[in-house]
Amino acid sequence: MSASPILAGSPAAPLQAAFATRLIAWQRTHGRHDLPWQNTRDPYRIWLSEIMLQQTQVSTVIPYYGKFLARFPDVAALARAPIDEVMALWAGLGYYSRARNLHRCAQAVMERHGGAFPDSPEQLAQLPGIGRSTAAAIASFAFGARATILDGNVKRVLARVFGIEGFPGEKRVENAMWLLAEDLMPGGDASGDDVSAYTQGLMDLGATLCVRGKPDCARCPFASDCVARATGRQRELPAARPKKTVPTRRTWMLVLRDGASVLLERRPPSGIWGGLWSLPEAADEAALSARAHALGAGHGAQALQRLAPITHTFTHFKLDIEPRCADLTGAPPLNGLQACDDETAWVPLARIDDYGVPAPVRKLLDALKGSLI
Ligand code: ADE
Repeated sequence: MSASPILAGSPAAPLQAAFATRLIAWQRTHGRHDLPWQNTRDPYRIWLSEIMLQQTQVSTVIPYYGKFLARFPDVAALARAPIDEVMALWAGLGYYSRARNLHRCAQAVMERHGGAFPDSPEQLAQLPGIGRSTAAAIASFAFGARATILDGNVKRVLARVFGIEGFPGEKRVENAMWLLAEDLMPGGDASGDDVSAYTQGLMDLGATLCVRGKPDCARCPFASDCVARATGRQRELPAARPKKTVPTRRTWMLVLRDGASVLLERRPPSGIWGGLWSLPEAADEAALSARAHALGAGHGAQALQRLAPITHTFTHFKLDIEPRCADLTGAPPLNGLQACDDETAWVPLARIDDYGVPAPVRKLLDALKGSLI
């Protein structure tokens, strides 16, 4: 097999030669043989099923598949239907770009290929909505082509049986899996039926035994060779999508109170919470203290009062908010502060809802209001 760092040192080499033979034998006795899109070589029917089965379970697809074929018995009927009708029949299946591509693909088959699906995976993959693995599945089921599939189920089987580390959505891991999947294919002398049984076998194994939650290893044809089983790592393989670690920023916010009112500032038009009303902010405690002082708080030795911190999660970072409270009541009038203009406002806590205030700031002020009642 091709050298791959991901598989380096794997003890799986002897299995690779026997993989296809064993899988085909298993599929013939234990695989699925009566799904509505099996027992046909009609590329239209096979294509339709493969598109519907992308990210969707067999049991969900079956009724839609029947309805579609009854309304659009061939690719010409689908190509000339209004898109609205296609979308209406697709409603409930989800991932609606599939339906738009389905319609476009039917039209492309009519226009580019005179109504006959091409038989090579390369040409099939040029059509709308048909990726590399779907093209291979269609070519293998409809034309017996020796084409390699690699969908989510197959990735799970390969990751477990051959002990492939890494998240399969990562390009490096996926490329290694494609190389392995190609190496595992039945030999060049295999019949079209063998190739179809092999392709279906991979799908059946992933969907019926080597399932995500609780794989049924006792009935698996690869149980005695499976790296995940031998090492008890069925739950860990394939590796989950790595959690994104988002950076954390910290900010200090001032709750400056005058009785039951607080001072809000309008944020700059761009950046986070652009244009919303929020609390005066500073980058650290000392800077916030200085701001509070400039705004007329903290006379004498009065320190800022610490309130419970809040964490707010944005898509790209976390914001830790350190709120500090100061009371203006009894202090001399504000020094130079225009108390009510376009950029600053004294707002009664009961009227916060009239202002566009970011959710975590509002939560903080709601809690403050609650503590004053
Ligand atoms: N998932 C994707 N293609 C499939 C097929 N032909 N049969 C069952 N499940 C599938």
